[in-house]
Amino acid sequence: MDLIIRRAATLAHPGPVDIGIDGGRIVRLAPALPDRAAEEIDADGRLVTPGLVEPHIHLDAALTAGEPRYNATGSLFEGIEIWGERVRSLTRDDVRRRAHEAITWMLACGVTHIRTHVDVCDPSLVALRALVEVRDAWRGVVGIQIVAFPQQGIYSFPDGEALLVEALGLGADVVGGIPHYEWTREYGERDVRTALRLAAEHDRRADLHCDETDDDQSRYLELVAAETIRLGLQGRVTASHTTAMHSYNNAYAYRLIRWMRHAGVHIVTNPLDNAVLQGRFDGYPVRRGYTRVRELLAAGINVCIGHDSIMDPWYPLGVGDPIQACFVMVHYGHMSAHADFTTLLEMVTTRAAAALGLADYGLAEGCRADLVVFDAPTAMDAIRRLAPRVAVIAGGRVVARTTPARTEVLAGGERRTVTFQR
Ligand code: FE2
Repeated sequence: MDLIIRRAATLAHPGPVDIGIDGGRIVRLAPALPDRAAEEIDADGRLVTPGLVEPHIHLDAALTAGEPRYNATGSLFEGIEIWGERVRSLTRDDVRRRAHEAITWMLACGVTHIRTHVDVCDPSLVALRALVEVRDAWRGVVGIQIVAFPQQGIYSFPDGEALLVEALGLGADVVGGIPHYEWTREYGERDVRTALRLAAEHDRRADLHCDETDDDQSRYLELVAAETIRLGLQGRVTASHTTAMHSYNNAYAYRLIRWMRHAGVHIVTNPLDNAVLQGRFDGYPVRRGYTRVRELLAAGINVCIGHDSIMDPWYPLGVGDPIQACFVMVHYGHMSAHADFTTLLEMVTTRAAAALGLADYGLAEGCRADLVVFDAPTAMDAIRRLAPRVAVIAGGRVVARTTPARTEVLAGGERRTVTFQR
């Protein structure tokens, strides 16, 4: 074998297992494998998960915070204004450089699959062309899906629909939309119908920014569900953000959730950005504006967690680590029950993989060997300490290693090493 990870703790198996890898695939999964390998990693009871899956990021805007200025209010609208200024200096090389850097950070955090949105409201489609090159350059290490995302609207931007179609022709993998941002309710409905029609015609998945507002009258998700069913796209459509659902009345939410289940719509919640962007128009009490994560999960709907922004005009923080988003979700989504920690890791691994439609993904024999070794024995500990990823494996090769920091306390009579572990 090429590689064996020994004594790994996993989310699914009760005891430690050895993971045998050969030819880029997981070939054996059993306690104490008798085989030998060219390279061995002793996990020593550390948690090993499949590679992390980032289902929602904007690589074209990543790492631009402060350019040309920082967001003085922190609001969504000032963010859009600043992006409007920054976008004028966007070049292919600029996008390529920042995207490569962000992907490198994410890979170091254990991310082996990414779905990135890219703004296609640009007559020259500069960012899209750059990200197609970036995607192709990372092939075999990090799998990247590009969503043609009409940031200004399909019908509220000149030739928006033609640009969306052109982006699909240039290599975008997934059809995007943004109904709640269109100028009128009617434009918003056309936005949803067009995005899903294009997905059906071009045999692509769809992922729409949907109802990302605190307005309880923003109700495009019901149309997404209905069109998904009508066009036979069940399981191939994702609605991202859906923050308005936070503010729907319970009777309406109940009805909507039933339709979503029939449609098999995947939901991506983005706790980092939406924690700071929602509730900006509220007096106290201030709404948190995240989607109904626990209710959706309880109804059997696939919900996953996205990072959304890394250091851009909307969200100035982030290192591209999905576990930071999980950490915030614990607090923001009341997900501190013990079983929730496992669910949270599923939301950045298997659940996100299902939304992206990844084949051969997972910690099972026959799957592609994309794996992460956390410096933590359990899901709870991995999230609590944002535990370093001591090894990241992509396609059967070790592609990143982290040496955990060593902390010593010198006071209190003796020198002590502090690990923050119990
Ligand atoms: Fe987004």
